[in-house]
Amino acid sequence: MTDNALDAALDTPATSDARSAGRIAAEAQRRRTFAVISHPDAGKSTLTEALALHARVITEAGAIHGKAGRRSTVSDWMEMEKARGISITSTALQFPYRDCVINLLDTPGHADFSEDTYRVLTAVDCAVMLIDAAKGLEPQTLKLFQVCKHRGIPIITVINKWDRPGRHALELMDEIHERIGLRTTPLTWPVGIAGDFKGVMDRRKGHYVRFTRTAGGATAAPEEHIPAADATAAAGVDWETAVEESELLSADGSDFDRETFLSGESSPVLFTSAALNFGVNQLLDVLVELAPAPSGAVDVDGVRRATDAPFSAFVFKVQAGMDSAHRDRIAYARVVSGTFERGDVLTHAATGKPFVTKYAQSVFGQQRSTLDDAWPGDVIGLANAAALRPGDTLYREVPVHYPPIPSFSPEHFAVARGTDPSKHKQFRRGIEQLEQEGVVQVLRSDKRGDQAPVFAAVGPMQFEVASHRMATELSAPISLESLPYQVARIVDPEDADFVNRQVSAEVLTRTDGVMLVLFSTPWRLEGFQRDNPNIKLRSLVAAEG
Ligand code: G4P
Repeated sequence: MTDNALDAALDTPATSDARSAGRIAAEAQRRRTFAVISHPDAGKSTLTEALALHARVITEAGAIHGKAGRRSTVSDWMEMEKARGISITSTALQFPYRDCVINLLDTPGHADFSEDTYRVLTAVDCAVMLIDAAKGLEPQTLKLFQVCKHRGIPIITVINKWDRPGRHALELMDEIHERIGLRTTPLTWPVGIAGDFKGVMDRRKGHYVRFTRTAGGATAAPEEHIPAADATAAAGVDWETAVEESELLSADGSDFDRETFLSGESSPVLFTSAALNFGVNQLLDVLVELAPAPSGAVDVDGVRRATDAPFSAFVFKVQAGMDSAHRDRIAYARVVSGTFERGDVLTHAATGKPFVTKYAQSVFGQQRSTLDDAWPGDVIGLANAAALRPGDTLYREVPVHYPPIPSFSPEHFAVARGTDPSKHKQFRRGIEQLEQEGVVQVLRSDKRGDQAPVFAAVGPMQFEVASHRMATELSAPISLESLPYQVARIVDPEDADFVNRQVSAEVLTRTDGVMLVLFSTPWRLEGFQRDNPNIKLRSLVAAEG
């Protein structure tokens, strides 16, 4: 969009038609907002690209993907955005598929794993749990799964890399059921073992979907639908094995069940090779046909706000520029109800102050220029949003206040000390600000004193961000000394003294008054619980959500 076109769009008045309840409900109904939860290397980026390819957003795989390209993709993505009229940010990829609009939210992984990774899951209606067929459930997948489970988010399981040697499909189903209690209900079943991926059986329709490789997996793989009667001729013993195993699954009650899927108790399963683009169509179809559309949200008073109510959204992530020359702060908000149009003046529920989006949107420039409107389920990026914090509510017309985003169980701890004693006021104010923004959780104890608060984080990158911002923006440089703790639990105040006397454990108090005990290792925690069954320790997400 040119600057002139952008200006014109900014001045376009909101039409009353667009804000009609019927239109809003219809737009909400066709949204599917989800995230992929996976361990690094399971194929999340490859799958993201394959989904976009199948949705015909890109014509050839590789435009988004590529290890080298991916890390510095902003410019590539912006180019794509301009060329194809889609909205891509590092936070959300939006594309049309069939008569739906798919919003795929990014869950940062690898080195940038942080509380934001979890917060993203507060903004989705569904999650795709991506599993490497050779590795099964891995630690990061498990952590993210726990957050989904706690929030009751429906999960679609995708077993990826079926083109490579891996585990037996039935064994993977057992592992998921036994380790995380999720009942698997495969919708497709592989024809050919891992490493010899010929196609899948569509378990609901009974036919054989045969895939054909394309050069380098670069374009959507052609697929043929072969009736069951002809499938043995087409795939021989591999088809017969798939039929037998599918019958075993049915006998075991592993057929799709909508109610338990939506309540997070069972999970439909698909088999893919994201690299070869096999099975990706099936995933998109399942998202459209089975994944829930946005359904509004419950406010702090327990009242549900329907999707067709006036505009409301909550901030799930705030990204502050690491570059000190650009102090802009982008807040990402998930639309709960109503419609948003560029230029709308919203109200910030926490302060009651107006939030003008016209300025914010134009400052964002090209990267946001395709966002002319947003509907329930969509994500809006608001630039220069200094006042916004994760969990904050924005609304139009009818006030609403959504509950805060819970803080998640930290696994990294470090003592923060100001390096310049003359800056103790800035030190205190800076730490207060970082905590309010949700950059780190802050813990204190009488023993350590006010000058040595403990930062607690889900991923170590949060410490880097905190340290950088204290030095450059908040004028109070700090040093961080990491502490040898790995797990935190909530402890009741009456038990705190006793727990604090244990070896390799320490009790600290969070600013909101919640007392946390930190243990050096999960084994120490287990041992303590075994020896002291009367002392109730609660995990953070479960206790607060
Ligand atoms: P991530 O975002 O979850 O970390 O995973 P990513 O997509 O980067 O995939 C990790 C590696 O696994 C990549 O290989 C990718 O090509 C490969 N991969 C992903 N899906 C599949 C699949 O279905 N089958 C096979 N065989 N491989 C798959 P790489 O060598 O690390 O990078 P690249 O040079 O291929 O990009």
